[in-house]
Amino acid sequence: MRILSGVKPTGRPHVGNYLGAIRQHIALQEKNNECIYMVADYHALTTLRDADLMREYRRGIALDYLALGLDPEKAIFFFQSDIPMHAELAWILSTITPHGLLERAHAWKDTKAKGNREMNAGLFTYPILMAADILLYNADSVPVGKDQKQHVEIARDIAEKFNNTFGDTFTLPEPDIPEDVATIIGTDGQKMSKSYNNTIGIFEDEATIKKQVMSITTASIELAEPMPIENDIILGLYEQFSSSAELDELKANYKAGGFGYGNAKKALLNKIIEHFAEARERRTKLAESDNIKEIMHEGAKKAQKIAITTMSDVYVKTGLS
Ligand code: TYM
Repeated sequence: MRILSGVKPTGRPHVGNYLGAIRQHIALQEKNNECIYMVADYHALTTLRDADLMREYRRGIALDYLALGLDPEKAIFFFQSDIPMHAELAWILSTITPHGLLERAHAWKDTKAKGNREMNAGLFTYPILMAADILLYNADSVPVGKDQKQHVEIARDIAEKFNNTFGDTFTLPEPDIPEDVATIIGTDGQKMSKSYNNTIGIFEDEATIKKQVMSITTASIELAEPMPIENDIILGLYEQFSSSAELDELKANYKAGGFGYGNAKKALLNKIIEHFAEARERRTKLAESDNIKEIMHEGAKKAQKIAITTMSDVYVKTGLS
């Protein structure tokens, strides 16, 4: 099974990215799959216009993945822009992509509806570049959060259109979205997202993470009353970082009353800090060792080999060679 995914370096990754995607990416590398993961920096350019920040974020995401357990011997890991064939294939795919398919993309519709962002053409054609990322490597499966499901479906539609037009070329990809982490909820009850400012960090300093956890929205009830279990943001996150016995214990405290949200938040904070403690240490060491460039360069070389094979086929099929 060939697995492919990516993360956009538009900030520091949060617990939503980790639970919805990064944790799966790392687990999948252990299962005899061929895993390909990219830092999607071309995608980040649609919103990020500061070269120093771009450099900081792309290196940061690379460090984060490696610290969280990505093994460059087991998975191909690279910067998207190190393989310009992504942009080349995106152009070729754009020539067969119906305009209406892009018009129907939720992300584009949201951007248009909010009207608070520059609506550049890159935001509109974003799903084509993502299709190129996936099809260039003929990925079978794309592990992502639910917010990216439609983009994977669009990639599949584009692959089908290309295959019907030029002959069988691309594998039709499937999204891989585990139900329980499809949408991780942020501190305010909406989907956790950098753009909603409701994230909980992974590698931020402990004081920042504490502040974020303490800001989680809760029901307004008296301390003595039982705390409702349903749709509770703290419990939802706690479940992801604890055993079922620990979860049951916290739920029992909720039901008993007199426990208080402050204690629940402290329990969650401890779990989060504990969960990422080793990764934090690894990240500090990695950041000092400075062999990231070398690791990413080696990853790009491996990715390039696959990409060249696909593009050779595309050139023949389209008559560009
Ligand atoms: P990005 O960078 O926004 O998010 C990275 C991954 O994290 C997932 N995610 C979530 N999952 C559950 N709950 C949440 N609250 C949450 N927030 C984010 C995302 O679904 C994603 O899997 N366009 C992509 C990056 C990309 C890509 C690709 C992905 C570029 N090329 C090719 C797959 C294949 C993006 O912006 O993800």
